[in-house]
Amino acid sequence: MAGNFFGRRKAKPLKGSQEEALRTLYPELKIDLAAPCPESLETLFSRHDRKPEAFVLEIGFGGGEHLVHRASLHPELGFVGCEPFVNGMAKAVSAIAEGKLTNIRLFGEDATALLDWLPDAALSRIDLLYPDPWPKKRHWKRRFVNAGNVKRFHRVLRPGGEFRFASDIESYVNWTLRHVLDHGGFEWTALHPDDWHQPWDEWISTRYEQKAVREGRTPAYFIFRRKA
Ligand SMILES: C[S@@+](CC[C@H](N)C(=O)[O-])C[C@H]1O[C@@H](n2cnc3c(N)ncnc32)[C@H](O)[C@@H]1O
Repeated sequence: MAGNFFGRRKAKPLKGSQEEALRTLYPELKIDLAAPCPESLETLFSRHDRKPEAFVLEIGFGGGEHLVHRASLHPELGFVGCEPFVNGMAKAVSAIAEGKLTNIRLFGEDATALLDWLPDAALSRIDLLYPDPWPKKRHWKRRFVNAGNVKRFHRVLRPGGEFRFASDIESYVNWTLRHVLDHGGFEWTALHPDDWHQPWDEWISTRYEQKAVREGRTPAYFIFRRKA
């Protein structure tokens, strides 16, 4: 696996229905990076009954609650979800089966490899929600947001495409603002001083956000737009 994943691959045993969904549906949904990347991502969504108007990537989707919610609201979009934690992937595949969703494809390894596989300007949006925080300074270099990955986001987003980020860890919030703005190819879309404390439309709270709020931390939300 490429060098940007430092978390757990598997925790508790999977439920029978999750095991079954992983065995039967996952092979159909899984993106295989050994195959050449299609010129247009449309070909990844041949199971879907309509041609997606745009493509969205969610990195580190946890149990897939946000991904599945968004995909069910937006049949006109093609979603790619990436999560190396097997229990999270199993949960998401079960929810996709249950919701009979056909506009999601999945990748179960480090998102960096997927970003490198995608063609230029392929995506209209990238969501990175509550990434592993690595709060200790000596671990900051493990954070998913870094100069290399911001450069990757810029390459795969179309002009006007968005990188959306949420976190409850103040040092990571500041770190992200600095890394994204230092790149020079993004603008922060905030209009009011308290914008970054307001979730965007259609937000559903993720599991990590609920934990953060229970523990008294304040979430921050950023939307960065790729400049033309
Ligand atoms: C703190 S959890 C947040 C999960 C979910 N987004 C939420 O808000 O509930 C961070 C997730 O990012 C995943 N992750 C960590 N490094 C990753 C990488 N390099 N590529 C893709 N996912 C990654 C972890 O497995 C974990 O599930």
